[in-house]
Amino acid sequence: MSDKPWGGRFKERTSGAVEAYTESISFDGELYAQDIAGSKAHARMLGRQGVISPSEAELLISGLDQVRTEIEAGTFPWRQELEDVHMNIETRLTEIVGEVGKKLHTGRSRNDQVCLDFRLYVSDGLRRWAVLARKLCGVYLEQARKHTDVLLPGCTHMQPAQPVSLAHHLLAYAWMFKRDVERILDCEKRVRISPLGAAALAGTTYPLDPAFVAEQLGMYGTFSNSMDAVADRDFALEALFCGAVIMAHLSRFCEELVWWANPQFGFVTLSDAHSTGSSIMPQKKNPDVAEIMRGKTGRAYGNLINLFTTLKGLPLTYNRDLQEDKIPFLDTDKTVQNSLALMADMLAATTFNASRMRRALSAGYLNATELADYLASRGIPFREAHHITGRAVALAEEKGVGLEDLSLEELRSLSPLIENDVYTVLDYDTAVRRRNIHGGTGPESVSFQIRELEAWLSSSLPWEA
Ligand code: ARG
Repeated sequence: MSDKPWGGRFKERTSGAVEAYTESISFDGELYAQDIAGSKAHARMLGRQGVISPSEAELLISGLDQVRTEIEAGTFPWRQELEDVHMNIETRLTEIVGEVGKKLHTGRSRNDQVCLDFRLYVSDGLRRWAVLARKLCGVYLEQARKHTDVLLPGCTHMQPAQPVSLAHHLLAYAWMFKRDVERILDCEKRVRISPLGAAALAGTTYPLDPAFVAEQLGMYGTFSNSMDAVADRDFALEALFCGAVIMAHLSRFCEELVWWANPQFGFVTLSDAHSTGSSIMPQKKNPDVAEIMRGKTGRAYGNLINLFTTLKGLPLTYNRDLQEDKIPFLDTDKTVQNSLALMADMLAATTFNASRMRRALSAGYLNATELADYLASRGIPFREAHHITGRAVALAEEKGVGLEDLSLEELRSLSPLIENDVYTVLDYDTAVRRRNIHGGTGPESVSFQIRELEAWLSSSLPWEA
């Protein structure tokens, strides 16, 4: 005889190996709070609809509260043979409240139940990410405010290209994380939809009120099709994508920190608290946090592909394959949360070395575009101005100096249109200051960006309002 909650039609016990292989309690126990909240809303709705009596509903709700207390106190008796979080909680509830516990599952299947739990869990995770990403945005902003006058080489192809302000460089990341938050908010609207009432796959004959359940749980709405409700996991794919993009953004900044912390750059000094040493080379101070974060990005991408692969070709509706959906999300959730929080701390504690950045401006002819634009402004077609500037660069390179170190005679030998005012144009600060065009690196553009981001950061998130 089987002693499983579903064991009525079984004559033999499940083998131990099968129990161990099919269980999900080792990971879906994480969803206990969402499972209990969902069950409380379901019980309340059953009571309101007259499917169970109001006093039975009350009993179930207080029993569920007790289960939660036991779980949080660490005294809950988790049992692998009960497969998953749902049956563990329901079984314990019945031990606590007696026979009425067996009424909780009326009009419900684990198929809609697990989907509800997971949707709530993913939504809660997304909300935490949004808060953390905004916080990180705030740290970029803070560092940008402190470094509006600091210039460094802006690169393309990892080659010196044009001077930019450090504030502008840092704000580029602030805008990325702002978009990440917006992406989360948009995604969360589709995630926080209740599938409860879809039952196994076809809906139910009980007079349930799915909208009431959704409202109780602070969800935005309910499912429209019971088959879609239990089979769909695109909400989790979207969330995993949001997480993958966050990690992509983090990994790019990590890469820059790794370069910048190298003494040949010397642009940043990481705090001791965020660096590690070498077991053999005493002088080493390694940017391991940035490296590990860059490394974990691969895991987050993998988690997205993991779920995509589970879903590929999966017929309607619920298939047990779907039990695998939680593992990638749980992993990405932890990675994204830890990475965003740690990056905020690390960035706040990073020292930017303005003089090293300034010194780096002199290598790589970062003011060459200025000379070309100068010539173009004197009527020379830009292509030709580009060519003349190239010759100036070659001359400076031959002499081992910067363009600004060439004498006026040398410059005029390349074009008689060059006058003494060229040296103002070749100045790195001038080059930055002249770029106040919308979105440019000029100081006015940068303070406009700062104001925009400040306004956004002072607004509240939809669920905080
Ligand atoms: N542990 C299962 C999961 O995570 C719960 C749903 C089980 N449903 C079923 N029909 N066996 O997907």
